[in-house]
Formats: sequence, C-alpha cells, structure tokens
Amino acid sequence: MRVTLILVCALATAGGGVTAQNATTLQLVQVLYRHGARTPIYSYPNDTNADHWWQGPGQLTNEGKNNQYELGAYLRRRYAGFLSPLYHTNHTQVESSDVDRTLMSAQVNLAALYPPQGRDKWNPDLAWQPIPVHTRPSTDDYKLRFIDACERYRQARKELDSSEYVRKVDRKYAPLYEYLHSVGVMLNDVESLSELYDTLWIDDRHGLAIPEWARRRLPAFNRTVYPELLRPISDLAFQLFSHTAEMRRLGGGVLLADMTEHMAAAAAGSLQPLGRQLFMYSAHDFTVAALLGALDVYNGIAPPLASCVIVELHRDASGAFFVELFYRNDTTVQPYRLRLPNCTDRCPWEAFRNLTAAVRPADAAAECAVSPPPTPAPPSPPALIVAAVLVCGLLLVLLVAALVLYCRRRRDEQFHYSALSTN
Ligand SMILES: *[C@@H]1O[C@H](CO)[C@@H](O)[C@H](O)[C@H]1NC(C)=O
Ligand SMILES: *[C@@H]1O[C@H](CO)[C@@H](O)[C@H](O)[C@H]1NC(C)=O
Ligand SMILES: *[C@@H]1O[C@H](CO)[C@@H](O)[C@H](O)[C@H]1NC(C)=O
Ligand SMILES: *[C@@H]1O[C@H](CO)[C@@H](O)[C@H](O)[C@H]1NC(C)=O
Ligand SMILES: *[C@@H]1O[C@H](CO)[C@@H](O)[C@H](O)[C@H]1NC(C)=O
Ligand SMILES: *[C@@H]1O[C@H](CO)[C@@H](O)[C@H](O)[C@H]1NC(C)=O
Ligand SMILES: *[C@@H]1O[C@H](CO)[C@@H](O)[C@H](O)[C@H]1NC(C)=O
Repeated sequence: MRVTLILVCALATAGGGVTAQNATTLQLVQVLYRHGARTPIYSYPNDTNADHWWQGPGQLTNEGKNNQYELGAYLRRRYAGFLSPLYHTNHTQVESSDVDRTLMSAQVNLAALYPPQGRDKWNPDLAWQPIPVHTRPSTDDYKLRFIDACERYRQARKELDSSEYVRKVDRKYAPLYEYLHSVGVMLNDVESLSELYDTLWIDDRHGLAIPEWARRRLPAFNRTVYPELLRPISDLAFQLFSHTAEMRRLGGGVLLADMTEHMAAAAAGSLQPLGRQLFMYSAHDFTVAALLGALDVYNGIAPPLASCVIVELHRDASGAFFVELFYRNDTTVQPYRLRLPNCTDRCPWEAFRNLTAAVRPADAAAECAVSPPPTPAPPSPPALIVAAVLVCGLLLVLLVAALVLYCRRRRDEQFHYSALSTN
C-alpha cells in the first residue's frame, strides 16, 4: 500500500521533473541547500524550553533528517534520466560547511540520492552506502561560511550596521527594543531579533510554550512581538546579507564564482574529472540567501528548511549552452523558476557570464583580507640619509646651544635667583 502510494506520488511529480528530452540537453547540475530542521541555537532569559532539546543546540532533528531525505529523493526523481543510478567518485562532488547539521544533512540527502543498487550493494541488511562529504574549517570556507572566513565581509557588515539605512530600521523598531528591555530581554540589533525569532519559531512549531512577553501586542505597532513583528525583521536580516554590491560579491559571489567556473569548464569540455554530473553544497540559510542575493533573484524571505537552489547547465541541439535557475523552497509545489535580471529563463551561457561577472571575485582570499591600516610610505634611501644628516645636525646645534646656555646659567646664577626673588 505504502509502496503504491510512493509510486503514485513519484509518477504524479515526474511531469514537472526532467523529462528524457531535458536530460538530453542537461550537462551539469549544481545544488546548494540549507540543512533540515534543527534545534534552537539561541536562548532568551528564563528559556525553560531549552531543556526540551536533548540533542544540544543547533543539531539536526529527526524531522530535519526527513527534510533532507525528501530532498535527496526529489533530486533522484528530477534527475532520473541524467544522474547515474550507480555511485562513482567522478560523478558527484559534495561539499558541506564544517557544522554538524550540514554534514549530517548531506549524508541523509545522499542516502536517498544514491541508495545502493547492483554493484554498489555491499551489505544485504543495509540500503545505504557511504558517500564522501568534503569540508574545510569555517575560517577557510569563503564559499559556504563567508561570515566566518571573510574578514572584509565582516567589516562591511559592521559598516552597514552603523549606516543610515540600518539606523533608520532601528529607529522604526525603537518601541520594540524598549519593550524587550523592560521585560529583561536586552537585544539591540536586527540580527539578535532575528535569532530570537528563530528560537521562538522552532519552539512554537513543536508545541512548546512561548513566553507571555513574546505574545504581547505592542500598541505602538498594533502587532504581536511574536510572530507579527519579529517575522519581517527576520526576513530583513537575511536581505542584509546582500545589501551592498561588495557584500554580494564577497558573500554569495564566491560560491557563484565556483559554480560558474565549473560551468565554464563543462562548456569548454575540460571539466575534470571526466563524467562529472553533480556538485552539491550543504550549508545554511544565509548561504542560500547570499547566493540568491548575488544572482539578484532573492525573494527576501528567510530561506526555509532544506530549501534548495538549483543551477543547471544545458546545451541545446545547435550546441549552444544556456543556464536555468530554480529555487525549491516549498516541497508541495514544483521548484520556482528564477530569471536572472536582463536575461531569459534559459539564459545563454555568455550572457549569464557577462551578467554575473561583477559579483564574482577571482581571488576571494585576497579580496577578503582586510587591508592593513594605512601606514606612511617608507622613505626612500636618499630621503633617509638627508633626514639622518638633518637630525644629526640639529642634535649638534642643540648640544652646542645647551652647553652655551649651561655655562651662561652657571655664570649668571646669582643674577637669576635675585631676579626671581624680586617678583
Ligand atoms: C523540460 O523540457 C520541456 C519541454 O521543452 C519543458 O516544458 C519543461 O519545462 C522542462 N522541464 C524542466 C524541469 O526544465
Ligand atoms: C527571569 O526570572 C527571574 C526570576 O524569576 C525574574 O526576576 C526575571 O524578571 C525573569 N526575566 C525574564 C526576561 O523573564
Ligand atoms: C489592531 O489589530 C487588530 C487585529 O489585526 C484589529 O482587529 C484592530 O482593529 C487593530 N486596532 C487598531 C487600533 O488599529
Ligand atoms: C574518471 O576521471 C578520470 C580523470 O578525468 C578519467 O581518467 C577516468 O576515465 C574517469 N572514469 C570514469 C568512470 O568516468
Ligand atoms: C518561495 O519562493 C517563491 C518565489 O520567490 C515565493 O513566491 C514563495 O512565497 C516562497 N515560498 C516560501 C515558503 O518561502
Ligand atoms: C539591466 O539592464 C538595464 C538597462 O540596460 C541596466 O540599467 C541594468 O543595470 C541592468 N541590470 C543588470 C543586473 O545588469
Ligand atoms: C559579453 O561581453 C563581451 C565582452 O564585453 C561582449 O563582447 C559580448 O557581446 C557580451 N555578450 C553578451 C551575450 O552579452
């Protein structure tokens, strides 16, 4: 019965997936997704719900595992005619940020994407095979954790926080900050409010009690703190990740540059290793928001659990390459098609490259290194010699002057004392 249901569902959704026809134009798939449901990361004063989360903060929950298993199964259905059903190291590369929930998300996703078949079967009792998930320390992860790795990005974010734009937002929400302070919740910026929303939202959807102060309707806005005031603030916090051209470039632009390099190599027939079909990136809500922001297609809504950006490189019958973008932010509908501004749904490869050129850094590490505080240019050797001569000469003059003064003072001591005593 269950099997039949699953089959029916698979058939029902197959229509919107990649048909045999698309599979013949498809050259390369790249996906970035947010991890599945997790436990809260932040707590507020007297947060009695914290004890409920036995897994610890920020951990993938069983629901979160199901979110990713569903996404992996969807990707398998969508790319049935393209992705090899058997695993080969050449076919797939998986990268995850170095965080428990994204590493676990990638593993669960891959369990659904590559259930062992035929020669891949290795244990009759286990419908699972190991697939490598690569990672790197957050401090080096410009692609997936630019907020940790990119010093210049962090500096730009600080500049934004003290900009008139963000100050205006803070002024608008001043009565909210005041209210929160009055109940002992000492938050002072949009990002902290968005973190508070995150925790309340998770607790709420698990039926845990939301504190009375959070349910209060504030007269200044005629809105409840949670969710009515905090939800749009949370959305705003994600928009801020791509607020300036520089933040788009050093944020989502780094991953976009990586993906574009892969497509350039694929279009040139030089992508290594041979047979590469899929690049998969497992990361965070802000990574998804930043990639969409760099592409200038972001809807401004905090990226949902397991939301997935899909970047497909195709080649039509005439041999021309084009790029298609999708956003799977809702499992109940087909992924939304995204259109790069000033391009078509099937964006010609050269146009895609041109239109994204300004947000793709060639050397992220170099651009992220904060330039040291301006120091005066070192003097050239001749100047140095002139300066030394001048200083020596000055010292000599001072010495002579001091000596003369000293002698005169000794001689005139009597006079001086008497002169002073006359005042
Ligand atoms: C696959 O190709 C068909 C026919 O061109 C098109 O209608 C459909 O939208 C394509 N599907 C995807 C997922 O691109
Ligand atoms: C937390 O609990 C303490 C002790 O009951 C109370 O004094 C304080 O006001 C509470 N703070 C908040 C923010 O609820
Ligand atoms: C405040 O909002 C509630 C619910 O949206 C509405 O019923 C009420 O009329 C509003 N009050 C004022 C003063 O606007
Ligand atoms: C894997 O890639 C290597 C290097 O490009 C190539 O020599 C080899 O033939 C590929 N194997 C398969 C099965 O694609
Ligand atoms: C998903 O994205 C579409 C297109 O931007 C948007 O209309 C929709 O509200 C989003 N849904 C969710 C659940 O975020
Ligand atoms: C799109 O084209 C318009 C008009 O040529 C131009 O002003 C705008 O900057 C372009 N936008 C992007 C994202 O390239
Ligand atoms: C892309 O940019 C190059 C160099 O500026 C230009 O020659 C070419 O016409 C552009 N192509 C498209 C499709 O915009």
